[in-house]
Amino acid sequence: MGFVIAVDGPAASGKGTIANRLGALYGFPVLDSGLLYRGVGVKLTEQGGDLDDVAAATAAAETLEASELDRPELRTRAAGELASRVAVHTPVRLALRDFQVRFAAQEPGAVIDGRDIGTVICPEAPAKLYVTATAAIRADRRWKQLVGQGEGVTYEEILADILRRDERDGGRKDSPMSQADDAVLLDTSEMTIEQAFDAARRIVEDARARWKA
Ligand code: C5P
Repeated sequence: MGFVIAVDGPAASGKGTIANRLGALYGFPVLDSGLLYRGVGVKLTEQGGDLDDVAAATAAAETLEASELDRPELRTRAAGELASRVAVHTPVRLALRDFQVRFAAQEPGAVIDGRDIGTVICPEAPAKLYVTATAAIRADRRWKQLVGQGEGVTYEEILADILRRDERDGGRKDSPMSQADDAVLLDTSEMTIEQAFDAARRIVEDARARWKA
């Protein structure tokens, strides 16, 4: 295993931006694992499937291709909700696991962001961050982002989405969203993107120094 950087945390905490910038800094490939679950939820819905139908959701996960992950439909508010509905099914998580583990095995390193990377997918990752922020601040960031993408939504709707998703992702039985014991907590509530990235970089540099030592 190369130098894997696991970046977990709730929706709109800033983990995606941090993961991308860390990837650019170290020249590592970056995987947004949420896109896999979004891909499954959107594909299943387009096929007319039921999100609670475990067999159909698993089939959608098993046949998901990397080429299906580029679609703008996966970045919508609705796709986030579909993703979290299919993410509760253990066989769906298992079907997506190999791809993530293989991605993490790339040399000289990789960055993966998600909910269970430091706990379940890569428990041996030498660098783990758990990025969070208050629900109100996350909702505000996500709302501005979605409005920028042209979605007509209110702040209150997004806050409700975020709270519902936090509860579902944190409360599910399999691989609930949680901070690994050895992950460093990064609360970005009062930080600009620059400050958050700088703090993340320092955490990763510390881990890198220990890893080589
Ligand atoms: O990160 P993003 O908001 O795109 O994730 C969408 C949903 O996918 C999450 O709310 C969560 O239910 C699920 N997910 C997961 N495990 C991951 C990444 C995402 O269960 N590693």
